[in-house]
Amino acid sequence: MNPLQGAADRSSAIGVFDSGVGGLTVVRAVMERLPSESILYFGDTARVPYGVKSVETIVHFAGQITEFLLRKRVKLLIVACNTMSAVALEVIRSMSPVPVLDVIHAGAKSAAEATRSGYVAVIGTPATIESNAYVKAIHRLDPAIRVVSQACALFVPLVEEGWLDHPITKLTAKEYLRSILQHPVDSLVLGCTHYPLIKPVIREVVGNRVQLVDSAEAMAQEAERVLQERGLSRPSSALPEYRFCVTDIPLRFRTIGERFLGRSLSSVEVVQL
Ligand code: DGL
Repeated sequence: MNPLQGAADRSSAIGVFDSGVGGLTVVRAVMERLPSESILYFGDTARVPYGVKSVETIVHFAGQITEFLLRKRVKLLIVACNTMSAVALEVIRSMSPVPVLDVIHAGAKSAAEATRSGYVAVIGTPATIESNAYVKAIHRLDPAIRVVSQACALFVPLVEEGWLDHPITKLTAKEYLRSILQHPVDSLVLGCTHYPLIKPVIREVVGNRVQLVDSAEAMAQEAERVLQERGLSRPSSALPEYRFCVTDIPLRFRTIGERFLGRSLSSVEVVQL
């Protein structure tokens, strides 16, 4: 039997993956919405960031992570990384016998529902913006929506540095968001795992008339729906298990990870792909 098709059942964990620690914002939302579900998180901390790498490399890494999680018999895969969702989703789906959810579709849906002006802005890593994945996903829902995109390469290192409310982060945000504000956008998709952590700075720059779309909550709702639909939800009395697998434990990993997760990070294991 293909080892990737080992039978997952309702007691199996949900596999959530990201290029690093950023996907813990999605884990946090899933923990809050589905408190009895076990979660197996994978963060490729040795090779992050992905957002400035080539499509071939990102697809190769995404395939390795998918294989790792499927061998652990997860019942659902959540691609928390926007960059992998943008460029590697087809490959991940083609490998997976279990349902695959991705942040781009969740974010695109929330933005299309939220806009009144018909102008949506999307910010993300260079690989995500270059792929046009958000534009395509939004246009599949409503071809009349105008989408303005901006790559914000410096936001990931600023967040990793912990400069969440630093003058340099504010200046950088002003510079990146200037072109977006020339359009009548009323909805801005935070198309990267790291951006929700600098929401207050982004809010200050774009003002209150623009709604910030963060797909973590939308992902958790979608996970709940898919598990229920397929009869894969754990009983509400079940006690969840959380495992965090990473490819390296860099300096300050715990501090940054806990900031994303919003609680203490226990049982972190270093694994090889
Ligand atoms: N997880 C990535 C994303 O959401 C950001 C970090 C990276 O570049 O790997 O696009």
